[in-house]
Amino acid sequence: MARVLVLNGPNLNLLGSREPAIYGHASLDDLIARLAATAAAAGVELSAFQSNAEHELINQVHAAKGNGIDAILINPGAYSHSSIALRDAFLAVELPFVEVHLSNIYNREPFRHHSYLSDIAAGVIVGFGPLSYELGLEALVRRLVAR
Ligand code: DQA
Repeated sequence: MARVLVLNGPNLNLLGSREPAIYGHASLDDLIARLAATAAAAGVELSAFQSNAEHELINQVHAAKGNGIDAILINPGAYSHSSIALRDAFLAVELPFVEVHLSNIYNREPFRHHSYLSDIAAGVIVGFGPLSYELGLEALVRRLVAR
């Protein structure tokens, strides 16, 4: 059974109450529960981790292969726009990953238009709210099946 790790970066623990006009009303737990149901239907084992700390996300990326993870779905939050360290972690482990964002980062402030992860991701999905995660998972599953 394929194993996918879902990583969520800083402030995503506040989903549901955080800027709902931008990020919606669903909590992170709601989002992960729905994603887990989609994963189970696709025969994929899902694990999820959220942290507000850059090093904890990096440690999860480092540990992923050893933990039997086949691919990573990540919403890096604001670390997308700042973290060369997270980029280097993905380059180091060579695991396929999809970057997702709830909001369309390209129609927001200019500082959100660049991500340090996008060019090394298998793909990027932005702007569809929680559906971004579902679409990202679907893309990863198809990739894993095709390999
Ligand atoms: C976000 C977009 C980022 O710019 C922001 O810092 C977030 C959330 C999104 O999912 O739309 O924390 O990653």
